[in-house]
Amino acid sequence: MNAQRPRRLRQSGAVRRLVAETRLHPAELVLPVFVREGIDAPQPIAAMPGVVQHTLDSLVAEAHRCVDAGLGGIMVFGVPATKDATGSGADSDDGILNVALRRVVDAVGDDLVVMADLCLDEFTDHGHCGVLDADGRVDNDATLVRYADMALAQARAGAHVLGLSGMMDGQVAAVREALDAAGFTDTILLAYAAKYTSALYGPFREAVQSSLVGDRATYQQDPANTTEALREIELDLAEGADIIMVKPAQPHLDIVALAAQTSTVPVAAYQISGEYAQIKAAAERGWIDGDRAVLESLLHIRRAGAQIILTYSALDVAPHL
Ligand code: PBG
Repeated sequence: MNAQRPRRLRQSGAVRRLVAETRLHPAELVLPVFVREGIDAPQPIAAMPGVVQHTLDSLVAEAHRCVDAGLGGIMVFGVPATKDATGSGADSDDGILNVALRRVVDAVGDDLVVMADLCLDEFTDHGHCGVLDADGRVDNDATLVRYADMALAQARAGAHVLGLSGMMDGQVAAVREALDAAGFTDTILLAYAAKYTSALYGPFREAVQSSLVGDRATYQQDPANTTEALREIELDLAEGADIIMVKPAQPHLDIVALAAQTSTVPVAAYQISGEYAQIKAAAERGWIDGDRAVLESLLHIRRAGAQIILTYSALDVAPHL
């Protein structure tokens, strides 16, 4: 007779539930949202079915839904009506993102962690994550000055967490120093430590109406590399990151696992716009079961070791967890 029968523990839903090693919980999920200046009704995003550019009012309503669903947080991205070379809307107290943060923080108080994207690409007319030098290249250190100003504006607006997504060298230290000097010692820094360049950011660029030509390969990481991710994580931890993130999530589960093994702070992963769109597109054609595919994908990210997951599906899946 066969003494080893692993199938015994798979025989029913009740047994499988008992022995499951990984579970998803709404509190670990963060919903990324877009708020656009100058619109009076939410605008659909074609490449992200079910996701919209919010008005300020619809954003606040969405934040209340996040609280009711027990989500861990909301990550706010701003889409300004006008863009310029230095992204001046980013650090203006009247800029759409800062106005929106103030509204959301007022609405949800301490019931939801309110996060702000800290990057210039939504605000620059060239679409890069930093300011450009005379030769048109992204100027690292001049960008750090802009990030510090942006961080102060977001902290003044009451954001609990600042998500540093620009991939400039020294950005965590520059922002931490500026915040501390102004007395914002409690503002939490989530560092996009290992952010890889990717074709899968495409739908996001529609969502923020990016004017980027080309790519971000001189600042975002090369998907060919692992060691570089370890270095980025080490640097961000040394600079004072409170949470680190790997992004995109599912193509880089090996990096998520490495980060989870080496990090001394919580590890997040971002299931990005193209990961969302791939599942939606196949599901719309009836080629896959979209609801199951989303739950599976989140479970894989969790199993790899991410404690926190940013996903556009957060509100859709929360009731099923
Ligand atoms: C930069 C930023 C981007 C995303 C999050 N923060 C755009 C980029 O790096 O091009 C992408 C998120 C997504 O694709 O869902 N502000």
